[in-house]
Amino acid sequence: MEGRFAGRTVLISGAAGGIGTAVAQRLAGEGAHVALADLSLAGAENVAEGLRAGGLRASSHRLDVTSGPDVARVLDEVEGQAGGVTMAVTSAGIIYISPFLDVTREHWDRTLTVNLTGTFLVFQEVARRLVKGGESGRLVAISSVSGRGGRPDSADYAASKAGVISVVRSAALALASHNITVNAVCPGVVDTEMTRLIHAARANTSGITAEESLRRMAARIPLQRVQTAKDVADVVSFLLSDDAGYVTGQSINADGGMEMD
Ligand SMILES: NC(=O)c1ccc[n+]([C@@H]2O[C@H](COP(=O)([O-])OP(=O)(O)OC[C@H]3O[C@@H](n4cnc5c(N)ncnc54)[C@H](O)[C@@H]3O)[C@@H](O)[C@H]2O)c1
Repeated sequence: MEGRFAGRTVLISGAAGGIGTAVAQRLAGEGAHVALADLSLAGAENVAEGLRAGGLRASSHRLDVTSGPDVARVLDEVEGQAGGVTMAVTSAGIIYISPFLDVTREHWDRTLTVNLTGTFLVFQEVARRLVKGGESGRLVAISSVSGRGGRPDSADYAASKAGVISVVRSAALALASHNITVNAVCPGVVDTEMTRLIHAARANTSGITAEESLRRMAARIPLQRVQTAKDVADVVSFLLSDDAGYVTGQSINADGGMEMD
C-alpha cells in the first residue's frame, strides 16, 4: 500500500467511536496499519473488518485505557501482529452532562480517569517503547475546545480536556530530544454518538428537542455547520505527517472558529 504512512503502525484508542473510526479510515487509506483499540472489541472489529475488505491494513484490540497493564498488553499484541507502534492517537473518551452543583464524585473520578489518565497511560507506554528502541514517533491526543474554557454542565469533562492539553505540553518537552512530537486536536461540535448523547441530555432539562438543541449550537459556530469526524481526522493526519515535523506541544483548535486562543 502506497501512501505517506506506508510501513507505519498506528495505535488508535477509542477507534470504535466516531472520531477514532474516522482517524482509522483516513490513516489506513494513507497506507498505515491501524490498530483499532476500544473497550468495545466488537465495535473495533467491525470497523477493522470494513477496512480489510477494502484492501487496507487493520487489526482490532480490546483495550481499557484506564489500565496501564492493559495498554502494555495491547501494544505487545499489536507489535506481534504488525510491528512496533511509532504513532498513537488517543480518542477514547466519555462525557456526563450534569449541572455543576450536581456533578457526583463518581462521575468526576470516572471522567478524569478515562479522558486524562487514559491519555497519559497510552502516551507514556508508547513513548517508553520508542525511547527504549531509539525510534522517533508521533503522539496525538483528541482534547476538546471544552478544555480551553469552562462548561457549566460538564465541569469534569472540561477539566479532563484541559488536563490533556497540559499532558501534551509536558510530554512534548520530555520527549523532544528523542524526536517524538506530541500534539492535540481540540474539536468543537462533531457529528458523533457523543454529541447525540450531549444534546439528548440537554433536551431533558431545557424543554427543547435534542435536534433543536444541536441546531441552536450549530448556529453559534462561525463556520455555521456541525463538524464531521473526518474534519478532525484530517488535522490528525497532518500532525502525524512529515509536514508537521517541527510542530510539538501544540493543541490545535479545529472547531469552525468557536475558540480563537
Ligand atoms: N463529539 C464531539 O463533539 C467531540 C468534541 C470534542 C472532543 N471530542 C473527543 O473526541 C474523542 C472521541 O469522541 P467521539 O465523539 O468519537 O465519541 P464516541 O462516544 O463516539 O467514541 C468514544 C469511544 O471511546 C471508547 N471508550 C470509552 N471509554 C474507553 C476506555 N476506558 N478504554 C477504551 N475505549 C474507551 C468508546 O467505546 C467509544 O468507542 C473523545 O475523547 C471526545 O471527548 C468529541
